[in-house]
Amino acid sequence: MATKTGEGFSSSFGAIMAAAGSAVGLGNIWRFPYICGKYGGGAFLLVYVFFVLFIGMVLLMSEFVIGRRTGEDPMKAYPKIKPERPAWKFVGLAGLFTCFLILAVYLVISGWTLNYFWESLTGTLAGIADSDFGTHFNQFASSAIRPSIFIAVFLLLTAIVIVGGVEKGIERVSKLLMPILVVLLAVMCVRSLTLEGASAGLSYLFKPDFSKLTGEGVLAALGQALFSLSVGMGVMIVYGSYLPKDDNILKTSLWITVCDFAIAILAGIAVFPAVFACGQEPTGGPGLVYQVLPVVFNSMGGVGRIFSTTFFLLLSLAALTSAISLLEALTQWLSGDKLGRTGSAVIMSLIVIFLAIAASFSFGDGILSGVTVAGMPLFDFLDKLTGTLLPPICALLTIFFFGWVMKKDDIIDELSNHGVIKIGYFKVFYYFLVRFLAPAALLIVLISGIIGQ
Ligand code: PHE
Repeated sequence: MATKTGEGFSSSFGAIMAAAGSAVGLGNIWRFPYICGKYGGGAFLLVYVFFVLFIGMVLLMSEFVIGRRTGEDPMKAYPKIKPERPAWKFVGLAGLFTCFLILAVYLVISGWTLNYFWESLTGTLAGIADSDFGTHFNQFASSAIRPSIFIAVFLLLTAIVIVGGVEKGIERVSKLLMPILVVLLAVMCVRSLTLEGASAGLSYLFKPDFSKLTGEGVLAALGQALFSLSVGMGVMIVYGSYLPKDDNILKTSLWITVCDFAIAILAGIAVFPAVFACGQEPTGGPGLVYQVLPVVFNSMGGVGRIFSTTFFLLLSLAALTSAISLLEALTQWLSGDKLGRTGSAVIMSLIVIFLAIAASFSFGDGILSGVTVAGMPLFDFLDKLTGTLLPPICALLTIFFFGWVMKKDDIIDELSNHGVIKIGYFKVFYYFLVRFLAPAALLIVLISGIIGQ
């Protein structure tokens, strides 16, 4: 609809589902609840909400504006807005490179998740003793063949959706999967909350403790706000280029932000009360999902297998809609007159799977674990680069472009749909955010993060 290739989302609802699908991912389910509890629960939430609203959502709107106004991929979008400064294309390129790296890490974890879904369904997990889950995970993740197969299957599913197209692939799948995800999550929440001793998990998550809110916690809140909303690396410029021309960007962005936040909170409620009720220690990442939660599910008896399968399905679906957005960004960039959508998606998939499998081989005791990049195994290096460093840098450059390079009138024109939507005082407030508050906050947090390394 919006782009030169004529592709786009058919409605605002479709656009919201697709972008919320990108936003809701592994970050919401396995990272948010843990860091929220670790850095002071309710105290962390206050800072997080501030970053989400005033930096994350502002970036989301800005990326949508850049994307819809130009109808181009991130690399072409910047110079199209500012033709006299073509070097801005490198910001788009840096974002796409970040997408590529994130996708590689994401595929490894998604492959693990798919494997656990399979092992739940077939009853393998139910047959493992509580004390053996650590070894089970390490053995599996360090092996060569099995994780690679699941990575390939997951990537194949992602690529099939991309080949289907923006409306018939991405939009249709997101409209189907997002509601399923919410229902599955609701089921998990009810189960978790009705376990005896669940309240300890709730107080871990929500009870404000300002003494735990350290500088590191503030950094984690910003990193999480950007990562969770999928902003900073151009994915939302891509989805912005598919937005209907009459879509209300402010409203759409608000919906996406609310969905993403609500799902992170629900994920916390689905996971931590159950973890505490089973007397397990809270943790995040692989430790939580592949070692602690299987113990929790097994302690539920026969129904545990149902909940375990539900949970890993939920996580796989959340990861799928995020991976779709990453592969779409790369595919849109590569496809041109000669190379269509299918060719680009196939080429990109073939390139990224190499990196993903290399990262998988470097994990734990894998065959590449001895090979280090900057003193770390490849997986850890990529994880660090994409988790804490690259997204805030790209986000800072994007917001700087928006606040200081792009014309204010053009921004307001696009946000108001050429004056059709009345945005009144909001435009003053918004412009203050993009020009001063968001870049300053990003800069401070980034510098303190780099110094603190
Ligand atoms: N937002 C996704 C998550 O929370 C991750 C992601 C980042 C997806 C960047 C796309 C782009 O898991």
